[in-house]
Amino acid sequence: MVKKLWGTRFSKKTHALTDKFTSSITFDKRLAKYDILGSIAHAKMLGKQKIISQKESRQIVRGLNSILKNVVSGKFKFDPAAEDIHSNIQELLARKIGSPAHKLHTARSRNDQVALDVRMYLKSEINNVVWLAVMLQKAILRFAVNNSRVIIPGYTHLQTAQCVLLAHHLLAYIEALERDIERLFDAKSRVDSMPLGSCAFSGTGLNIDRDFVKKELGFASVTANSIDSVSDRDFIIEVLADISILSVHLSRFAEDLILWSTKEFNFIDIDFSFCTGSSIMPHKKNPDILELIRGSVGKIQGDLSSVLILMKGLPSSYNRDLQLDKPPLFDAIDTIKDILEIFMELFGSIAVKKEEIAGRIKDESLFSVDIVEYLIKKGSSYRQAHDIVGRMYRDSLGKGKAISGLSLKELKKYSPYFGLEVKKILNAWASVNLKRSYGGTNPKLVAGQLLAWERRLK
Ligand code: ARG
Repeated sequence: MVKKLWGTRFSKKTHALTDKFTSSITFDKRLAKYDILGSIAHAKMLGKQKIISQKESRQIVRGLNSILKNVVSGKFKFDPAAEDIHSNIQELLARKIGSPAHKLHTARSRNDQVALDVRMYLKSEINNVVWLAVMLQKAILRFAVNNSRVIIPGYTHLQTAQCVLLAHHLLAYIEALERDIERLFDAKSRVDSMPLGSCAFSGTGLNIDRDFVKKELGFASVTANSIDSVSDRDFIIEVLADISILSVHLSRFAEDLILWSTKEFNFIDIDFSFCTGSSIMPHKKNPDILELIRGSVGKIQGDLSSVLILMKGLPSSYNRDLQLDKPPLFDAIDTIKDILEIFMELFGSIAVKKEEIAGRIKDESLFSVDIVEYLIKKGSSYRQAHDIVGRMYRDSLGKGKAISGLSLKELKKYSPYFGLEVKKILNAWASVNLKRSYGGTNPKLVAGQLLAWERRLK
């Protein structure tokens, strides 16, 4: 049985339900490594400042290091009766080294300790999420490069719009992921501040050296206000918001791929190894992974909402409610890592149905803007050109008549600006070639972007 860190003042044992209800060990045990590393830095500081003896400091550090070894190797047995990970480690240390362990919690509270642990956890996990996001960018880039000559019909309002290069469409994903990565790194700069030494919420009368602990733990700065340090979890909300935005991107990419894999679109084939079947319809091959990616994103949005709502009515300083920030935080981090990992593998399993797509980009309605711009270059006003081309499509669409089949005389009836050379632009390659504005889908521009990203992601 773990002795409660605060038990002496209590004239009576706490109810079993109280213990069960207040305990967080089932989830905060995953902070063990950071809790111990934080304690090691703290013990070294206490020794250096002569708040405890050098000998005691060394004994504590040695004891904590041996517990850390067990945690890292997975041998550590968490005590389900412990109130939280902080109590669990301290109790174990006391059993290992005896009385010096009772000096470890000098000039510290679990309030600043848990803030430290979560910040250390987040610094490490932001790096992991970013690393996976970069790997996904690389997988998408590989897919784009391998299919750099494929033109697809592009959509707005999910209605056929204009031709674009598939690689151009995929580079849009890479751009979005890049902003997600920047946002996470930016959030990390605010996570990277060391709260230990704030104690319960007001600081301490003992002569501690917070800057030493900051350096030991590799933090960029020390938090400047002890109340703020134990009170706020905005840094968690910020990371959850960034992960939410990232997850929305992933959900939309998944939705594109789900649509493209339907018989109706028929642009891609996802390998069997990343699909599932139906228990009743033998012919089925379903994109369940992509659907679960889309679905998991709802869970992440819920995690963000959960912490926002948790915080909104709290009075300043530490409140026990803050314990409940961890399950949603851990869930969001675990979920986004799982999504990123499987998504990058799935991108390597997609075959592009080039022949199917080639048939689809013959549709002349894809070139309406090109004809409008042709007329503008000849001297027509934009409005006039839009009206002319509108009439041409009204007369041809659904009537089995092709604009490319019109004679010069017929073309001239629509506008004197027309010459027969307009027919040269009524194909997908001409169409994408024309989009030379910076950021457009012109193949040379897209090739330049692919090369730039290849260099950047190396
Ligand atoms: N388990 C708590 C949390 O996660 C640790 C801090 C508890 N502090 C206290 N004074 N009860 O926030």
